[in-house]
Amino acid sequence: MGDRGIEALDRARRDAGVFAELLLGAALWPHQLEVVASPARYRVICAGRQVGKSRLLAILALHRAFAQAGAVVLLVSAGDTAAKRLLEDVATLALGSPMLAGSVIDESSKAVTLSNGSVIRAVPASAAQIRGWAVDLLIVDEAAFIDQEIWRAAEPAIIARPGSRVVLSSSPWGSPDHFFRALWTRGTAEPTVHLAAWHWPSITSPLVDEALLEEIRAREAPAYFEREFEAKWTDSAGAYFTTAELEAATARDGEHELVDLDAAAGCGQVVGGVDWGMQRDAHALVVVAAIAGEEGLDERGRQRYWVPFVEERFATDYDTWIDRLVKCAGAFVFGALVAETNGVGQMPTQQLARRLWEASGRDLVVPVATTARLKEDLFGFMRLLVQQKRLVLPREPSLLRQLGALEFVQGDGGVMRIAVPERSGHDDVAMAFAFALQPLMGGEMVPVLEGVVEDYDLDEELADYRIAPYDEGWW
Ligand SMILES: Nc1ncnc2c1ncn2[C@@H]1O[C@H](COP(=O)(O)OP(=O)(O)OP(=O)(O)O)[C@@H](O)[C@H]1O
Ligand SMILES: [Mg+2]
Repeated sequence: MGDRGIEALDRARRDAGVFAELLLGAALWPHQLEVVASPARYRVICAGRQVGKSRLLAILALHRAFAQAGAVVLLVSAGDTAAKRLLEDVATLALGSPMLAGSVIDESSKAVTLSNGSVIRAVPASAAQIRGWAVDLLIVDEAAFIDQEIWRAAEPAIIARPGSRVVLSSSPWGSPDHFFRALWTRGTAEPTVHLAAWHWPSITSPLVDEALLEEIRAREAPAYFEREFEAKWTDSAGAYFTTAELEAATARDGEHELVDLDAAAGCGQVVGGVDWGMQRDAHALVVVAAIAGEEGLDERGRQRYWVPFVEERFATDYDTWIDRLVKCAGAFVFGALVAETNGVGQMPTQQLARRLWEASGRDLVVPVATTARLKEDLFGFMRLLVQQKRLVLPREPSLLRQLGALEFVQGDGGVMRIAVPERSGHDDVAMAFAFALQPLMGGEMVPVLEGVVEDYDLDEELADYRIAPYDEGWW
């Protein structure tokens, strides 16, 4: 290598922007370069969709690993899929670069190791997993969705290492005292050498133009658009679930978080809901289980529930999605799997029922022809469970965001009821979740979950959410 090559390597080592351009062949955008250039120990980015967060985080991770032999970079992410995707981004960039060609990806331990001994590791957001490491660079994606307590427990150990640095990025979510929001607010108001903050609405990306944003604005709920694309902390007056309510319902200390399919059988009998995607939105599956043991009952002896599994698949054809559902049904012990037969749902629901019958010899699929009224009731029931503290929600950004985007409308006679989401592209997981609750909803219902019988008068409990007396019969 000539002098100029060595000089270039040296510059790349000192500067992640040069590194990205020269060694990865992927120059950063100006707003990304600002973060790269900041010397602050904590760098906090509140951002909208598609502005280049993941790309920046992947490059920061690789750069640290490249520049400092033996460095440990930790990628923490709310939601397993997000963590996997970020590590994939890192791996793709590394393998595409001749300088980093010696890098090795270990799928099972979720790590990328460079030939200089540096390692970039993706870990789940649990206190035990995070605390064990001496870390040079900690990267937290979707930080607003991470359990506050996990952060409190893990942060001191993480930053004990001299020279260690932290990059937090997220779309806005959560109450003012959550660490991500608190750090971002402080970094925005009074940046210091220790703390710097950025605000990136989606329009910041050179690939996103006004016309595209206007199209999205027209189809999305206003609160959702503000949060996801303008990156604003909204808690709109019309929210069906307030952020505080959702936060109070989310899992704590890693308990009742999502599980892998390997652990599915351990959830006992479960119920599920399937939402069939159309062009824009994704297919979704949400699984609901009864909480076992003493904490499974509230003080009035009513069953409490949790959500062990959420899956959202974009750009997937029906056959592939049905294969996946059959696989999930082989791992979980389903009491019922509810699927909507309206619109596009007719054929795939039949096909799913047949496939599951062939696979298990049981009639697991509950086809449901939904009406606006039924959807109102399903979400009403969800709200009831949340308010009664009988539903523990996982820290899954898609699910929480979509629930947070549901809105009230003023009905006749002043009764507030849910605005049943239009099929607009951001409600697939929320819908699948609502469907999953259907088998749990009937007053005198068959106990689809072993030992679980809802014995209160749901009709009465939901009366406040209805405009007119209910006259269609339950199903
Ligand atoms: N510096 C860059 N130069 C060219 N393209 C880029 C750059 N940074 C990001 N992109 C592209 O912009 C798109 C969005 O980037 P990225 O996935 O990093 O954004 P994001 O903010 O993480 O998005 P999401 O909100 O969906 O998670 C991708 O197609 C990515 O390849
Ligand atoms: Mg991303």
